[in-house]
Amino acid sequence: MQYADADDAADIKTGEIKLHGPGDFDGMRKAGRLAAECLDMIAAHVQPGVTTGRLDDLIREFVLDAGALSATIGYRGYRHASCISLNHVICHGIPSDKVLKNGDIMNIDVTVIVDGWHGDTSRMYWAGEPKVKARRLIDTTYEALVKGIESAKPGHTLRDIGRAIQTHAEGQGFSVVRDFCGHGLGRVFHDAPNVVHYAEYVEKIGFNNEIIHRAPEIELKPGMFFTIEPMINEGKPEVKLLKDGWTAVSRDKSLSAQFEHSIGLTETGVEIFTKSPAGLDRPPYAV
Ligand code: MF3
Ligand code: CO
Ligand code: CO
Repeated sequence: MQYADADDAADIKTGEIKLHGPGDFDGMRKAGRLAAECLDMIAAHVQPGVTTGRLDDLIREFVLDAGALSATIGYRGYRHASCISLNHVICHGIPSDKVLKNGDIMNIDVTVIVDGWHGDTSRMYWAGEPKVKARRLIDTTYEALVKGIESAKPGHTLRDIGRAIQTHAEGQGFSVVRDFCGHGLGRVFHDAPNVVHYAEYVEKIGFNNEIIHRAPEIELKPGMFFTIEPMINEGKPEVKLLKDGWTAVSRDKSLSAQFEHSIGLTETGVEIFTKSPAGLDRPPYAV
């Protein structure tokens, strides 16, 4: 019931967790590599004076020139090849004519489709010189992703991944966004399971009530494909959705950072499909 052989499953979100075979790993390797190359390509273009819309144009052209598709163009009415989330934007920032200025930090998130397989990855970038606290947030977020990936292995559960991320981020005085999570992917963009980036948190309701949210103890099995994509806020974790229906910002307007990899579970650990071929997995990018 909970897991399905991907060969037997329909290419839609059914709620079952698909377990993939060796040929599927090949498909994800290609898709993940192209998405990562796209993020490598964009690094040299992130400069003060450039618009986020221009960066998106470069990304769209790169993906189409490679003979691939952008998974986000046309996705639930979204019209761009990337999400570019500046400063206090947590995720799903819409590329626009906004001009980057010195010290801006941003997440650039790209999802491509190659031969039907999805490669989904994002990294942080900065224009000019970032502030020290922004850099510390970015470093912590990257480290949290790495610790999450290190916890992803057969025998562990999704909650172990969330715990590793939450412990690291909160240990540095930052908070984990709860309203967005990682996801299964493969031939489907957003599939089961949800990959939350916490183990547990308490939500206060009214004066006297609380709800305890616990990440599920779903067992990790070889052949699972999913993303880990922690969003870490400098201040409080609460999110506000802007009127455009996409842009999610931190309610307290504090800075937010995110990194994302698409991974596949092997018998012993993970394969990261979206590692940077150029070694540009985290800033500073010497380009
Ligand atoms: N790439 C995002 C993710 O990590 C999803 C973007 S959907 C969009 O899941 F429509 F906003 F582009
Ligand atoms: Co994703
Ligand atoms: Co993404």
